[in-house]
Amino acid sequence: MIVNNVNLEVVSGSASQFPDTNLLEIAFAGKSNVGKSSLINALINRKSYARTSSQPGKTQTINFYNVEDKLYFVDLPGYGYAKVSKQERERWGKFIESYLYERQQLKQILLLVDIRHEPNNNDKMLYDWIVYNGFAPIVIATKLDKLKRSQVDKHVSVIKKAFNIKDRNRIVPFSATTKQGKDELWEMLDSIIDS
Ligand code: GTP
Ligand code: MG
Repeated sequence: MIVNNVNLEVVSGSASQFPDTNLLEIAFAGKSNVGKSSLINALINRKSYARTSSQPGKTQTINFYNVEDKLYFVDLPGYGYAKVSKQERERWGKFIESYLYERQQLKQILLLVDIRHEPNNNDKMLYDWIVYNGFAPIVIATKLDKLKRSQVDKHVSVIKKAFNIKDRNRIVPFSATTKQGKDELWEMLDSIIDS
């Protein structure tokens, strides 16, 4: 898709504020600081429309990016951010769950992991939960530019194994810095949007 028009609608507190439309939604999930907002910026060809930060925990709201009035990219707050209280983490969990469980328009979940690291238990729990709920996640292995080219295959294998991914096409190495992986991902998203 060629993206010219994007409009942000922020949802902070509760499910009743989710946009009341029938547009399909693609959600971006993953650990805090993994690069969810950066991926959205790359896909919509904007430098910093979605706010990013080197400090984890930047995105605390559920942000709906209306793309060309065709679909929403949904930027979820990251998990595993150590500095928030247990109570806050639980509130976060419920808020995200209320979105992931109940959202009829949700068509695709992208699960982001850092290509340099083996997925942790939170990543695996979320992956299994996504599959259990009938979605076919696409795993985005972010920060590809941080690896030497010769290391990439090995790291992709580790991630595939951790999630037990059989189909190589369900994992896309991506860099927000070099934009590697962007065209491939847009092709996948276009076919989801058109199906
Ligand atoms: P939260 O909103 O805290 O959950 O984080 P997020 O997942 O939205 O991460 P964000 O996009 O804000 O990126 C976090 C940091 O990683 C920022 O400093 C980004 O510039 C950096 N970053 C994101 N993607 C890449 C990438 O592909 N390569 C490199 N080198 N840095 C990246
Ligand atoms: Mg963010």
